[in-house]
Amino acid sequence: MKEFVANVKFVFKIINISFPAFSSSFSKYDLKIFDYRSNFFSFLLMCYVSEVNMSIQIVQADITKLPYDAIVNAANNSLLGGGGVDGAIHQAAGPKLLEECRTLGGCHTGEAKITGGYNLPARCVIHTVGPIYSGCEKDAELLAKCYENSLELAKSKEFESIAFCAISTGVYGYPIKEATEIALTTVNNWLKRNKDYELKVVFCCHSKRDTDIYVNTALALKLVPREENIYMPHIAVEEGRTAQR
Ligand code: APR
Repeated sequence: MKEFVANVKFVFKIINISFPAFSSSFSKYDLKIFDYRSNFFSFLLMCYVSEVNMSIQIVQADITKLPYDAIVNAANNSLLGGGGVDGAIHQAAGPKLLEECRTLGGCHTGEAKITGGYNLPARCVIHTVGPIYSGCEKDAELLAKCYENSLELAKSKEFESIAFCAISTGVYGYPIKEATEIALTTVNNWLKRNKDYELKVVFCCHSKRDTDIYVNTALALKLVPREENIYMPHIAVEEGRTAQR
């Protein structure tokens, strides 16, 4: 019954999103939201029937544009910036982010540390360091730790929303399919252990290929509703215009 109530609550949130009043409050973020009014009842029924975890969402976007309480950076042990998503976040946040990172004394692989978001639309950045893929068992443990420690940090700050990039799947070479399964399973298990804490978790994929892998893996793990009902806000932020905080 609890699951049903949670799903209904989420569905009304989604439906509410499609009402002009709510979507106008999103318009400052240029969010284009799917309109669920057309298949409201099938969506409601499907949520209940498939017992899906409705606090997991998958989007294809540039994580530096997402206006959530925290975005998760795939950093390196120095926390002093780099390429990939690390470089994009530092560039979008501005020099103050690096100044604060300098005070953190680095970060061990699998650990997570937090800073302000500065010029980003996100309030904060959670920096975590994924494993450099070597094919040994420890890789999976350390990657799972990145997600768990980031979630624990978000909970300690009473955040309501967090967006993850695909940690370690770029320069650090973690095969995307394996990493995606670890990410989704770890987050889903954490959400189940923390049912009393409502946190929206968004997986931000940077490419269509990665998005498809996330969606197919989530469907295979029965973590999100059937494909046509997956809630994927298309972030349509014009180049150079970041969403207001
Ligand atoms: N928004 C969302 N995702 C992004 C963005 C972005 N703007 N830019 C890159 N990504 C994705 C990549 O496509 C990849 O799926 O982030 C994922 C992680 O890739 P990397 O940034 O290369 O991170 P990682 O593989 O963990 O390697 C970390 O790379 O950038 C350096 O300083 C970083 O040394 C560290 C290493």
